[in-house]
Amino acid sequence: MKNNSAPIGVFDSGIGGLTVVKHLIDALPNENIVYFGDTARVPYGSKSNDTVIEYSIQNAAFLMEFGVKAIVVACNTASSVAMESLREKFAIPVIGMIEPGAKYGLGYTSTNKIGVIGTRSTIGNNAYSKKIKEINSEVEVFEKACPLFVPFAEEGWIDHPATIAVAEEYLEPLKSAGIDTLILGCTHYPILRNVIQNVVGSTIKLVDSGIAASYSVVKELTEKDLLNTSNSPGTQLYYVSDVPTTFKFVASLFLGKDIYNVKKVETDYISSLFSINK
Ligand code: DGL
Repeated sequence: MKNNSAPIGVFDSGIGGLTVVKHLIDALPNENIVYFGDTARVPYGSKSNDTVIEYSIQNAAFLMEFGVKAIVVACNTASSVAMESLREKFAIPVIGMIEPGAKYGLGYTSTNKIGVIGTRSTIGNNAYSKKIKEINSEVEVFEKACPLFVPFAEEGWIDHPATIAVAEEYLEPLKSAGIDTLILGCTHYPILRNVIQNVVGSTIKLVDSGIAASYSVVKELTEKDLLNTSNSPGTQLYYVSDVPTTFKFVASLFLGKDIYNVKKVETDYISSLFSINK
């Protein structure tokens, strides 16, 4: 049954998805949000596709317990492998990062040379290049896995010399390829945006897949007549499977404001919600 005041469920492998929550709150200030960050099992970017699919279904099943009206997969890694399984399993709109990010990138390029950075999984699955080429086969896509960016982001090392050195190493081949647009294909990367922009130079347009996805959520909820009609500001509930010591500090960096209402949920419970072998 349609319930416009039901929350939107958002999940990520960790706290990167909070960059998406930030844009969702900006775009849809009256919507209620329940967030689950799988901080005990992060990173997903180095795990097998089957494991990421299994975790994604478990995470979505947990969010379903809140009666969510839509699920936002605020993780590019999960979006690159689990969308089909999630859409098969759950009869509500499921919005991922790849298609919106790809479309946004295509809207910016004028040289038809787009760079994509993401986790090993997102890049290894060619998630963005497949989607971009499906829409416009003329476009050249240059992809680069940047696995060290996730731990740097989770540590809050947003302008640390080590982050700059690693960014220079990772991004040089993309610069040399002559890209004019760079898709940040991981929800952790927007907090490293300044370093990335400085390294690639100001002429390259950075695309935040989370902003692109938040517009897709607005579109999908509008089309399905699922927008919350309340005039009061929406509420946010945050669940994580572990609370790392630096959590509050880093989470507020990602979210752009202090974070409250954080509750821990046991990984055993999340794991019990679905098994790929059954
Ligand atoms: N936030 C995830 C993504 O967007 C990356 C972190 C991870 O490896 O789990 O791909």
